[in-house]
Amino acid sequence: MKIEQIQLVQFRNHKNLSYGPSDGINLLYGPNGSGKTSVLEGIHYCALTKGFVTAYDNECLAFGESFFLIKGSFISDALKQNGVKVVYSSENGKKLTVNGQELNTFSQHIGSIPCITFSPAEMSIVNGSPVERRRFLDNAICQADGRYLQSMLHYRRVLLQRNALLLQLKERFHSIEMLDILTEQLSEYAADIVFARLRFLEEILPGLQAFLSSVSVKEEPGITYRSSLAQSVYALTREELQNRFKEQYAKKKKDEIARGLTSGGPHRDEIVFFLNQHEIKKYASQGQQRSFLIAMKMALYGYLRDKLNEKPLCLFDDLFSELDSSRVEALFAILATFGQVFITATEKMHGSAVTSINFFEAI
Ligand SMILES: Nc1ncnc2c1ncn2[C@@H]1O[C@H](COP(=O)(O)OP(=O)(O)O)[C@@H](O)[C@H]1O
Ligand SMILES: [Mg+2]
Repeated sequence: MKIEQIQLVQFRNHKNLSYGPSDGINLLYGPNGSGKTSVLEGIHYCALTKGFVTAYDNECLAFGESFFLIKGSFISDALKQNGVKVVYSSENGKKLTVNGQELNTFSQHIGSIPCITFSPAEMSIVNGSPVERRRFLDNAICQADGRYLQSMLHYRRVLLQRNALLLQLKERFHSIEMLDILTEQLSEYAADIVFARLRFLEEILPGLQAFLSSVSVKEEPGITYRSSLAQSVYALTREELQNRFKEQYAKKKKDEIARGLTSGGPHRDEIVFFLNQHEIKKYASQGQQRSFLIAMKMALYGYLRDKLNEKPLCLFDDLFSELDSSRVEALFAILATFGQVFITATEKMHGSAVTSINFFEAI
């Protein structure tokens, strides 16, 4: 996937910026506050309909303005043109238009412009709470698998309904038959989610190992999935997972009604990262954590490329800060084999073996 042109209007500090990046590695450099991250953010909006640094659309609206607009023209590896427009106003919310057609559900757009990110804030994937790792997995799998995204949306909806019902049952306001129906549905979506997450982790591990050894000293990465099901889940089929969930919810039914809350499920599961069998979050240095995350993102690149038959866009914010020059060289060598890559930095970079860098004056 490649961006031919992107335009940002009243988006953060950009009043009206048009940018036509080159193939290969694009280095966006300039002083802090010049708007480099905002350009990556705008690209991310076109790909995944939201930001990766800012959490809320209205934070991207330039101060004092009533709307922002992002327009991108993309071309796939198979040379298919894709025109994407995102408009947001506080009055009308966010609208997404793809090739002239306004989309009512944004989810149908996810995956058509595959992209991976890196930002220092994403270090929380490695050293933050379980919710960060679940979100990382979910966002990654959603891009490759539209069915997963649907299962996630269904799961969330049924979980809300089921929790509301459990509360009503606690107060004895409702009949219990409805609970069985929701439990059946919840178990199905929970199984879909856990099954897909396990396959994802299995498929990403070899890439993680390979990239980690090229950006770091030799260390053995590991990932464990801790399910809320009270047993190992690795070898189970989707159907077996579904049955285990049903059994578990049946067993905990009384307790769930007493608490007015669903007892567990993929929304509570934990993913634990290891280096040489030690939990990264607890034992690894800042530098090791950073290398691990970078290697994980590189592995994600390979995963999405193979699943979608399309090279994802790479949006790397401050990728090189805190890395020594030998690692920077190693990273450049890897990125030279990728598709279109965007990297922000405060300084123009000299002396790299990679020649395909196009410097872009961000201001
Ligand atoms: N909603 C907004 N409206 C106007 N300016 C903003 C908004 N949000 C952030 N900014 C400003 O945009 C500038 C560029 O931010 P950013 O893209 O993060 O810069 P860089 O990555 O180059 O350091 C910052 O100075 C910031 O204060
Ligand atoms: Mg920045």
